[in-house]
Amino acid sequence: MRDVLVVLVAAGSGTRLGAGIPKALARLSGKPLFEHALQSIVAMPNLFQVVIAIPADHHADFAPIAQRYASPEVNILLVAGGETRQQSIANALSVADDGHSITLVHDAARALATTALFSRVANAVRESGSGVLPVLPVVDTIKRAQAEQIVETVDRSHLRIAQTPQGFPSQQLLAAYALAQQEAKTEYTDDSSLFDAAGHRMISVVGEPKAFKITTPADLAAAEQHFQSTLRTGIGTDVHRFSADGKKPLILAGIEWPNEVALEGHSDGDAVAHAVVDALLAAAGLGDIGGNFGVDRPEYAGARGEVFIRGTLELLAANGWTVQNVSVQLIGNRPKVSPMREAAQAKMTQLVGAPVTIGATTTDGLGFLGNSEGVAAVATALIAGSAK
Ligand code: CTP
Ligand code: MG
Repeated sequence: MRDVLVVLVAAGSGTRLGAGIPKALARLSGKPLFEHALQSIVAMPNLFQVVIAIPADHHADFAPIAQRYASPEVNILLVAGGETRQQSIANALSVADDGHSITLVHDAARALATTALFSRVANAVRESGSGVLPVLPVVDTIKRAQAEQIVETVDRSHLRIAQTPQGFPSQQLLAAYALAQQEAKTEYTDDSSLFDAAGHRMISVVGEPKAFKITTPADLAAAEQHFQSTLRTGIGTDVHRFSADGKKPLILAGIEWPNEVALEGHSDGDAVAHAVVDALLAAAGLGDIGGNFGVDRPEYAGARGEVFIRGTLELLAANGWTVQNVSVQLIGNRPKVSPMREAAQAKMTQLVGAPVTIGATTTDGLGFLGNSEGVAAVATALIAGSAK
């Protein structure tokens, strides 16, 4: 039976995160926070409808993503939030369809709460008929203080940390909200306190450390760590021939090398940049440079290597990958790397946004690299992300 309404509150401004955009739109592993929450919600059995409270002037940022998670059975409504969290929820409840018997309220800021937690809360409401609050024990010693004066140590065995999603019998929650709106004086920071104030019973279930609220930049960085559990390596190679045009500058590793012969290529012939791109794409399982950028396409004629690197980093980010480091080896007699190593490494590190080291070797005079027909570059990349 589809009887669970989920209200996702995402209308806050995210002042403490300070991302310059509403917190629910801040990116975590390449996706906005509210999308992570929505993904866990729509995987829940018994889902009736989702109503998302959003900042009034950001409809266009939320609507296309929300619609991707709608289905013939479950529609997703967007509603403008209010001045306070409580008002945002009241707005959401007022537009929900009739026909649900359980309501879960969840903060978009708790982006990593799992489907299992949503189900645990909904099931506990169904079984108990009470309001249900997911909690964690308090592990720190807690003190009561007056200014600098420590007054007492609080017995933490009776203390719990409150999380969301919080669940309620729908009719009781609606009545409790109606009552709170009438009072219009108390502002409740969570729904369990509003529900409790209306005289209803709340019980607790075990919460989830992952369901912590993302409030500050440090919280967002901690959440990002949850997506860094998988490491992948990739390899890329590129070879370019030296140009007959003695006037063109050599571009390698994104910089100009003085007194060297240029490399030929449809783009700028930057074998280092191209090998790095292939290594990154290979590590992420996203194909190669030709497949992604069609390096013989007219718009890439003469294109600088950094154009491909930037495009590659965007692709990786969209798939939840971050670069850990890149190592490049240049093979050939020229150019001499040691005088330019620092500058080349610095430029590539800046472009890639992770440490890039560059070494070189010769082939003992053997083959097309030994007779200085061209240069080869081999790169390996290490990336981190979540296993798909
Ligand atoms: N929220 C909301 N409407 C409001 C205020 C908050 O829907 N008027 C939502 C937020 O989007 C968030 C949740 O309530 O998912 C918890 O609020 P909080 O973590 O405080 O988020 P913000 O208010 O956005 O952050 P800040 O207090 O730092 O500005
Ligand atoms: Mg707030």
